[in-house]
Amino acid sequence: MDRYAVAGNPVEHSKSPFIHGCFARQTGQALEYTRLLVPLDAFVPAVKAFAAAGAKGCNVTVPFKFEAHAAAACSTERARLAGAANTLRFDAAGWFADNTDGAGLVADVQRNAGFDVAGRDLLLVGAGGAAAGVLGPLLELRPRRVVVANRSVHKAQQLVRAHQPLAERCGAELSAAALDGCGTGYQLVLNATAASLQGDGVPVPASVLARGALAYDMMYGPAAAGFLQWAAAHGATGRDGLGMLVEQAAEAFFVWRGVRPDTTPVLAQLRSASA
Ligand code: ATR
Repeated sequence: MDRYAVAGNPVEHSKSPFIHGCFARQTGQALEYTRLLVPLDAFVPAVKAFAAAGAKGCNVTVPFKFEAHAAAACSTERARLAGAANTLRFDAAGWFADNTDGAGLVADVQRNAGFDVAGRDLLLVGAGGAAAGVLGPLLELRPRRVVVANRSVHKAQQLVRAHQPLAERCGAELSAAALDGCGTGYQLVLNATAASLQGDGVPVPASVLARGALAYDMMYGPAAAGFLQWAAAHGATGRDGLGMLVEQAAEAFFVWRGVRPDTTPVLAQLRSASA
């Protein structure tokens, strides 16, 4: 049976084995998907050993997405733009790296939440790995304007510089800002920071929300609770990243198996389990 895993540290709470197990049953694909706890200083040897034992690929999570991209023999354009990979396929010619996080976010925002990004004003809060993974795919939807706001402004500026040619091709205005100077009235506000994990509140003022805005946290579970409360308190529609998680998994499943699973029943099951 073909073997896959999610490689990370920590990895014990990952929902990926459940999600990929559902996809495999639904599509009739014979595969096994487990967790691979990787020592912080040994990502490449651990994954090499997994591949040498006959595995076909893995997902990569915190904190190894940058290393995964750097270690691959070839990668997709979207992984190169992000400088990070969440999906590896162990090809005969070497590791093939992809980043399906952005496609996952876009599918959840557009298809599941019904929010059309084209022509809208977007605020992306954060400039770490999570933000880097989604900026390119968001720009491809041709928003009117995207502002990347981050605590360390230079990281937002770096991310913006790397994406400026794509923004121009897509006809989108792209700029960087500080958290306390990022403007007002965005129709989509995306939280890609780890602020809640540090025990901190939402790092931008509520004036960033336009009336009826969609406020999206790329985290889920308790880590997203504060952001969702903030969104509700200020009249926005809040959404956590559970849908993004399922959609990025579906995209990785497609990279490995060439089959696109139906995400709707899997997301419904996860939502009812966490209700
Ligand atoms: P990830 O891969 O999850 O994006 P990361 O690369 O460490 O993780 O990035 C974390 C992001 O959360 C960064 O944008 C970080 O801001 P800095 O670049 O200034 O460090 C942001 N972040 C973390 N803690 C924060 C806090 N308490 N307030 C605001 N932003 C925070």
